[in-house]
Amino acid sequence: MSELNKITLQNAITEFEITANALTDVRKNFTEEIEKGLESPAETSLKMLPSFLTLPTGDESGTYLALDFGGTNVRVLKIKIWKRGNYKILKKTESPLKTAGKFDFTAATATGEELFDFIAKLIELTLEGSTDEIYLGHTFSFPSEQLDLANAKLISWTKEFKTKGVEGENVTELLTKALKKRNLDFVKPVAVINDTVATLISSAYIRENILIGSIYATGHNTCYFEPNYNGKEMIINLESGGFSKLEQNSYDKLLDEKSEKPGEQLLEKMVSGRYVGELYSLVLQKALNSEKLFDFSSLDLCNIAQNIDAAKIIEEKAEYAPKDGETALFVKLAANILTRSASLVAATFLGIYSHTKKLPAVAIDGSLYAKNPFLQDIIADNLKEADIKTFKADEGSALGAAIAAALAVK
Ligand code: GLC
Repeated sequence: MSELNKITLQNAITEFEITANALTDVRKNFTEEIEKGLESPAETSLKMLPSFLTLPTGDESGTYLALDFGGTNVRVLKIKIWKRGNYKILKKTESPLKTAGKFDFTAATATGEELFDFIAKLIELTLEGSTDEIYLGHTFSFPSEQLDLANAKLISWTKEFKTKGVEGENVTELLTKALKKRNLDFVKPVAVINDTVATLISSAYIRENILIGSIYATGHNTCYFEPNYNGKEMIINLESGGFSKLEQNSYDKLLDEKSEKPGEQLLEKMVSGRYVGELYSLVLQKALNSEKLFDFSSLDLCNIAQNIDAAKIIEEKAEYAPKDGETALFVKLAANILTRSASLVAATFLGIYSHTKKLPAVAIDGSLYAKNPFLQDIIADNLKEADIKTFKADEGSALGAAIAAALAVK
């Protein structure tokens, strides 16, 4: 069994600590990037993508298909919405995008055509034989240049997706082609939105004062309601995962170098579910001087941070049984990685507030957030002073897609 280098572990614990001063800087830099970005987005690390949507009125209604694509699973839902806050899921079909040994639509071996054919098949299953015309809202959770509400071009993959033939393409055209091939022309894609925008509009449909929508899951990103986008109201997708005015520590740099797109998505690589477990793995590999790659998930990290089966998880994933007193170090490292993650996320919300000066309520969706009261508390604590409230968004991505479709055909 390997030896633990305690100094390496202790140093890493310090590297992942985040000070109040550092968080104040993040908040300030974030505000500056927004304000610079409103003038000329190319000069900032925030993409500031207009969504072609403003807040819903609450009167939106009808039955729609919602396609939710952008994380580990793809989901198609048939949803009925009526009046502020009311919705019913009539049917839901879901599939992972990769299954070991069978298929992986996120890999470079897959093409956009194959991916959208797979999605069209799920749409067909959700329809259960119905051939009535139906409008579809698509939550596509990647940085996209919106051509209008119905059409968006993928700028570049994030979250380590590599599927060929989608970057630079209009994803609505790819979807429409796939629908045609399956004789599903009566399905009309009328809106394509980011998942943060879906979270914001679905929560604003239900309650007042929601002005920020955020995803804290495999990926991380935030959008907000901008009252003055070239003189108009507009929900703007910040693509805040790309925010780069940050201090990276040695493990952040290592992770970035090994990633699919070095230099990009720096905030996301410090906070999101796709990466926090990897940061932990990198530290343990070094501290245990291991050649083998470890595979800690964000869920493992949340358990370790709360000292739930910590020693057992370390032993399983890193093949090392912590000795007396060592478990506390492993717990502390997990807690620091996650505390830094949630505190950075909160600092960006504060940064938006410093820009808009209008007290927002924040809707947050995503598995990492929803499943971990531990992270919810850290975010809430960081926002307490500013009196900013947070809400968990339920079915945000799907409900938002349905509302966007309703807004498109209004
Ligand atoms: C990544 C994507 C972004 C999305 C986020 C959450 O950051 O680039 O568009 O909102 O993940 O899914």
